[in-house]
Amino acid sequence: MDLPAEPSEISGETSAAGAGGHTNDVEFVRGADCRDVLPLLPARVFDACITDAPYGLGMAAWDSDVPGVDVWRAIMRALKPGAFLVVFSGRRTYHRLAGAVEQAGFRIVDQAIWAFCTGRPPSRSHLRPAHEPILIARVPGPAIPLNVDAGRIPWRDAEDQARASRIDSLRAQGGRRRVYSESLARYGREPFRPNIKGRWPSTLMATDQVLGESSHIFLVPKVRDSAGHTCAKPAALIEHLVRLFAPEGGVVLDPFAGSGPMAEAAVATGRRAVLIDAAGTT
Ligand SMILES: C[S@@+](CC[C@H](N)C(=O)[O-])C[C@H]1O[C@@H](n2cnc3c(N)ncnc32)[C@H](O)[C@@H]1O
Repeated sequence: MDLPAEPSEISGETSAAGAGGHTNDVEFVRGADCRDVLPLLPARVFDACITDAPYGLGMAAWDSDVPGVDVWRAIMRALKPGAFLVVFSGRRTYHRLAGAVEQAGFRIVDQAIWAFCTGRPPSRSHLRPAHEPILIARVPGPAIPLNVDAGRIPWRDAEDQARASRIDSLRAQGGRRRVYSESLARYGREPFRPNIKGRWPSTLMATDQVLGESSHIFLVPKVRDSAGHTCAKPAALIEHLVRLFAPEGGVVLDPFAGSGPMAEAAVATGRRAVLIDAAGTT
């Protein structure tokens, strides 16, 4: 991919990390600090930044603080106007992340939740950790639409779809339903017909251990393999976020890439990606 500046300008190891013949589509800059690499990237070329930045919980040497305003400004420079910024965060440091992102000039538009059942309470005075907040922001500018259809939650079966149709038709007749704006014009005149691709995706994503029987929730098979990283995210989860927040054929930035689930997600979804991580290949 010809997006980053000359590899010689980047102190780190640049490698094509794609799979299945897509090696030109993913570039992984390893062993380089993103604060050095981001200024070398061209401005306003990335369609989205989806990343799992340090939480500032002191879990590792690189985790002493959340990235500051300067980092989010450098990321904003590389993003197109209106592009999404999606960042995983620690529960007790979310406010610091949100403050820095907002101060850098992003508009905070939402918060999603990644829920799991694998956490251990750090002490007897803590609850068992079972979720992480995901900050969703945008670069100011004309809004790039969310790819709702690409992220719809598939119907479990025909009965599930039919039940949604019955419930939504009843609600529509009661005049209380305002969520499915695309169908509002039809309300009252004909029965609600659920989208063939599935339900509208929600702000909750979870391992299938958490909620097996729910509706708008994206379920990820519980992952045991941590890909050698203390805070690895399942590629299926990253894939869902990429489908939702980056346009088809677009290019995604992940400046805190860790073990690199973004590489797999980008290839699987037909997006291009630039990944950066301070850790080297070994
Ligand atoms: C929360 S982990 C990401 C884990 C990743 N989601 C995965 O599934 O493997 C954050 C990563 O940011 C990297 N990191 C921390 N500070 C960095 C910096 N200034 N530049 C580039 N990478 C950095 C760390 O090496 C770590 O791998």
